[in-house]
Amino acid sequence: MKTLLITGGAGFIGSHLVRFMVNKYPEYRIINLDKLTYAGNLENLRDVEEKENYLFVKTDINDADAVQKVFDEFDISGVIHLAAESHVDRSITNPTEFIYTNIVGTINLLNAARHQWKDKPEEHLFYHVSTDEVYGSLGDTGLFTEATAYDPRSPYSASKASSDHLVRAYFHTFKLPVVISNCSNNYGGYQFPEKLIPLMIHNISNNKPLPVYGKGLNVRDWLYVDDHTSAIDLIFHKGTLGETYNIGGNNEWTNIDLVNLLCRIMDEKLGHPEGTSEKLITYVTDRAGHDLRYAIDSSKLQNELGWEPSLQFNEGLEKTVEWYLANEGWLNNVTSGDYQKYYDNMYKNR
Ligand code: NAD
Ligand code: TYD
Repeated sequence: MKTLLITGGAGFIGSHLVRFMVNKYPEYRIINLDKLTYAGNLENLRDVEEKENYLFVKTDINDADAVQKVFDEFDISGVIHLAAESHVDRSITNPTEFIYTNIVGTINLLNAARHQWKDKPEEHLFYHVSTDEVYGSLGDTGLFTEATAYDPRSPYSASKASSDHLVRAYFHTFKLPVVISNCSNNYGGYQFPEKLIPLMIHNISNNKPLPVYGKGLNVRDWLYVDDHTSAIDLIFHKGTLGETYNIGGNNEWTNIDLVNLLCRIMDEKLGHPEGTSEKLITYVTDRAGHDLRYAIDSSKLQNELGWEPSLQFNEGLEKTVEWYLANEGWLNNVTSGDYQKYYDNMYKNR
């Protein structure tokens, strides 16, 4: 039986990936390693927690000994590493946390994998999940390719870029079998409502202002989270060692156009007269160092591995809105912080 360690499996993308892997590969044992920060929530995985091939271990990747212990205890054949501090705004208010988790945490995992796999590295794989933000900011034209020079501009993207470099360095220096992907902005259910789309849905539902940074003209390339998951599955099983694959939706939106579209969908779903939610839009002070535009060229992944996004944006956004409206309890729980108190209490003696 293959044992696959997924880090950050209680977070947004991680929980979609864990669910997908547990269901698609009953012959794999899936271990979800997560610290359960504010962004990690085991409620995201209720539907798989009883499955025989699923196991959760509460571990902080900053703790090298604890990480090594997990590798000593389980015969891990592959790692898909998603655990990270992931929010740009938090990296502006508290950069240091990002350096520990995203850089030191990654090196702890690399060291443990290197140590445990030293006899037969070729039978293993360390897959590092990263972001398109490492490439910096585009002007009005052009796309990020795998050959674009790194130019990270926020503490978040700088810490992710650093971790990408370390993963590549372990491939070249120690022959650790690695693969990396850099993906554009994801959206879908279970995303913590500090990120643009769930935050706007939550605020519209609660009749609160919709804070649009600057003039709302920054551009992001949005991908439905399950399409990211399917790309990870493909790259994990078919990707070439040492390679990087860009993943993107070919789906660019200015923030203000996206928020307007969300307002229209929400008015329709909530039975409000058209234009009701748009009145909540409030332009606020811009994010410091706000990257203007991200856009991904994912032709390498499409041509070499045959990946394609499955959903049109309108369809994905409608599904996403419906998910948040149907899961108001989840939203209220994570915004009130009750679940965090519950887990702090539950794990205080472990
Ligand atoms: P998230 O913030 O929703 O989840 C992060 C998870 O990591 C949480 O479960 C958290 O508890 C866990 N974690 C944080 N610090 C930890 C630590 N020290 N030890 C163990 N676990 C820890 O993040 P996400 O949006 O799901 O992103 C997952 C990964 O994908 C990240 O590496 C991110 O850089 C990358 N990524 C995200 C996006 C996006 O749009 N969200 C796009 C491209 C790449
Ligand atoms: P975000 O979801 O934080 O992702 P990222 O910064 O990693 O791309 O933000 C997406 C875009 O939306 C980004 O340009 C910042 C903008 N934004 C707002 O205008 N208002 C908000 O309240 C948030 C959270 C983001």
